[in-house]
Amino acid sequence: MPQAVISGTGLYQPPHVITNAELVAAFNAHAERQNAIDADAIARGEKAALTASSVEFIEKASGIKQRYVIEKDGVLDPARMRPKFAQRPDDQLSLMAEIGADACRKALAAAGRTAADVDAIFCAASNMQRAYPAIAVEIQQAIGAGGYGFDMNVACSSATFGIEQAVNAVRSGSAKCVLVVNPEITSAHLEWKDRDCHFIFGDVCTATVVESADTATAADQWEVLGTRLVTQFSNAIRNNFGFINRSEDADPLARDKTFRQEGRKVFKEVVPMAAAHIEAHLAGLKLEPTQMRRFWLHQANLGMNQLILKKLVGAEAGGDLAPLVLDTYANTSSAGSVLAFHEYRADLKPGDLGVVCSFGAGYSIGSVVVRKK
Ligand SMILES: CC(C)(COP(=O)(O)OP(=O)(O)OC[C@H]1O[C@@H](n2cnc3c(N)ncnc32)[C@H](O)[C@@H]1OP(=O)(O)O)[C@@H](O)C(=O)NCCC(=O)NCCS
Repeated sequence: MPQAVISGTGLYQPPHVITNAELVAAFNAHAERQNAIDADAIARGEKAALTASSVEFIEKASGIKQRYVIEKDGVLDPARMRPKFAQRPDDQLSLMAEIGADACRKALAAAGRTAADVDAIFCAASNMQRAYPAIAVEIQQAIGAGGYGFDMNVACSSATFGIEQAVNAVRSGSAKCVLVVNPEITSAHLEWKDRDCHFIFGDVCTATVVESADTATAADQWEVLGTRLVTQFSNAIRNNFGFINRSEDADPLARDKTFRQEGRKVFKEVVPMAAAHIEAHLAGLKLEPTQMRRFWLHQANLGMNQLILKKLVGAEAGGDLAPLVLDTYANTSSAGSVLAFHEYRADLKPGDLGVVCSFGAGYSIGSVVVRKK
């Protein structure tokens, strides 16, 4: 069986930053405005008044300091509180495909490959902007690749699940070079009007080239020693947006049509699952967590990553062992662990081992164990 390597990654970084201070100012202005509109209902006890958000809470509870977004003005407009994107005609590249193609081109350049080398593109993300044609097929055309493409969604674990499909395609010989791309436009499915979660997400797109070790030529290659995926159903993170909504005569702006979660429950349930998953995956490869030079973990919450690391190796996360991108990018859904891998791997030496691991809605957990060649 051909061996699979990761030979390049690419990152699309959106143009706008929203700091916690800007975010909180917009939310608090929205809350004041909404409370004034609802004043009578609040006075009658029929509605609860919205309470203020705070920078201190956000930083302490999550570790997030800012986030990147594709469109900022709509998000920070207290009367709107969601991005404002122009609807594009069908003959124009869609937004997901645009940022996906950008990240793919960068990943191919890093791998020393061109679009002509690509046999397959898997667009793996937590939301797709339309039902069909698949965004992956549009990206395929935009970059000029052959082969085939398809979309897949496993929420925050979409990227690692996509990497396993790419590794399997390379190992089976059905493809020699696969692009896995994660356009995460989280700003469009985050409920910016809910103080429990308005600080969580940021936009980004990552892309990963997985190819056969026989033909890979990049200087920076990562042998994939193994991948492991698991899912277990949970309603603790949920978004009910979908094609059935219109037949249910549902309000498209209703709260359940955007991201919702029971944050504390997710924290408590996912931390032990993720730690046990990584430990079992490594044990299956006859490896110990202490042999890992780096953990590129999903970027949802600083405290979650610290606890997972503590369970695995008894150390604090952050810095060298499990670098954080959460502070500057926030949670970028499935792109988070790939983003950490993209930004924090240049210092590793040949033979160094590491784990890319995602966890999130589903629940879903995916891990990819790699060795620097
Ligand atoms: C979301 C998360 C940061 C919240 O942190 P937390 O410590 O659990 O905080 P809680 O939601 O329990 O809220 C604690 C208190 O702060 C309040 N609070 C919530 N948001 C607030 C805000 N923006 N500003 C100020 N106070 C806030 C709550 O109302 C609550 O008040 P109470 O104690 O009076 O009821 C955390 O639970 C988390 O990250 N969970 C995992 C998320 C995750 O991985 N999700 C996966 C998504 S892909």
